[in-house]
Amino acid sequence: MKIDCEDIKLFQIALEASKNAYAPYSDFPVGAALATGNGIFTGCNVENRSYGAGICAERTAIVKAVSSGCRDFKALAVAAPKSPDPVSPCGICRQVISEFCNDDFPVIFGTSEKELIKVSIRELYPFNSLEKLKDL
Ligand code: THU
Repeated sequence: MKIDCEDIKLFQIALEASKNAYAPYSDFPVGAALATGNGIFTGCNVENRSYGAGICAERTAIVKAVSSGCRDFKALAVAAPKSPDPVSPCGICRQVISEFCNDDFPVIFGTSEKELIKVSIRELYPFNSLEKLKDL
């Protein structure tokens, strides 16, 4: 998918959100910015000493939006400033995104605003329903 200036702005907001990350165990801060019909919801990873209790930046942003009454999602950007490689949503986050978004929903990520990748949730999570599995 083609990157436009709105995607770059959304990525910059995700980058800013990563500054709020609580990541003392991984030292891997991540920020997310979710563009919606009701504005932008941000999120960051929030870890826990019981490792499995941590939550990713993407799900933080989604849960903030849904719990505020907003499910009209337009695009999601993810920024992991300490990573040398682009970071895309993990499997659990892909599942959660696919709960609320249609197949063309864009996900933007990358190492810097100059090198962004934009793909649809369909590309990240192709077989998200039993219906699609039947076509295999
Ligand atoms: N993490 C995210 O928040 N989003 C991703 O897309 C990848 C991983 C977090 C989880 C954990 O707090 C840390 O990054 C290291 O995996």
